[in-house]
Amino acid sequence: MSTPEPPGGNPDDIVLQAKNLNKAFGAVTAAKDVNVAVPRGAVWSLIGSNGAGKTTFVNMVTGYLRPDSGTILFNDKNITGMEPRKITRLGISRSFQIPQLCAELTALDNMLVSLGSANEQASFFRSAHSADSVASATEMLERFRIVDYRHRTMAELPAGVRKLLDIAMAITGDPQVLLLDEPTSGVAAEEKYPLMDLVMEALEGANVTVMFVEHDMDIVARYSQRVLAFYDGQIIANDTPDHVMQDESVRRFVTGGAAATAGGASC
Ligand SMILES: Nc1ncnc2c1ncn2[C@@H]1O[C@H](COP(=O)(O)OP(=O)(O)O)[C@@H](O)[C@H]1O
Ligand SMILES: [Mg+2]
Repeated sequence: MSTPEPPGGNPDDIVLQAKNLNKAFGAVTAAKDVNVAVPRGAVWSLIGSNGAGKTTFVNMVTGYLRPDSGTILFNDKNITGMEPRKITRLGISRSFQIPQLCAELTALDNMLVSLGSANEQASFFRSAHSADSVASATEMLERFRIVDYRHRTMAELPAGVRKLLDIAMAITGDPQVLLLDEPTSGVAAEEKYPLMDLVMEALEGANVTVMFVEHDMDIVARYSQRVLAFYDGQIIANDTPDHVMQDESVRRFVTGGAAATAGGASC
């Protein structure tokens, strides 16, 4: 892939910073002294075996979990422990490993809800939507090549489509930072690259900082400029994909030689 200027964005322009984050669940340490500074516009991946603390990191940054200690700065503003909704409004969006969609709504209605033109019961007030918002929602579904599913409810959607819809919804608010928790998990092997291509295309030119959790090291190498490797709640490596893959502790604790690189791992 082409090499952008400094790998992983401009280090003089830090959009997101985690300082000394700690989080425990009883005896389990889910985050231990996590420190990271993410440059604006970077595309980074998060790797680590199940239970390593990747989702905990995403949850803390997006307000779904409050760290026991430490600070999260977004554009130098302290967002630690803020409500998820407020963090989203500030400019940090996320998608989920298991898409969080309104089950009884259609794909189009879900998109309308996320476009902010809806409040609660989208199916009820769809008729009240402006033609503009329906056009924007439809355009977004087209961009992700899932427009043919617009009138289907979630139960009727294939897993890959649900995943794309959740990601498309995360992008609708024009986030500055986008965190994708295992965007390709549960997606058929041959659909993983097209899915990532669609996401990257949709973000082109928007200078969005992306952090995605991924188990497939080929995808990590292809789409991210830098990799954070998690183990036991700690970041054990923070470097380019090449370096991280050669790192001894990463080999020992994450990629495990032959093990753990296969796609589709879930947690
Ligand atoms: N809400 C929770 N309650 C209790 N334990 C949790 C909770 N969330 C995560 N954990 C634990 O924290 C550790 C890190 O989990 P997680 O961040 O989900 O890992 P990953 O996403 O890397 O698989 C695991 O041991 C997990 O069981
Ligand atoms: Mg996880």
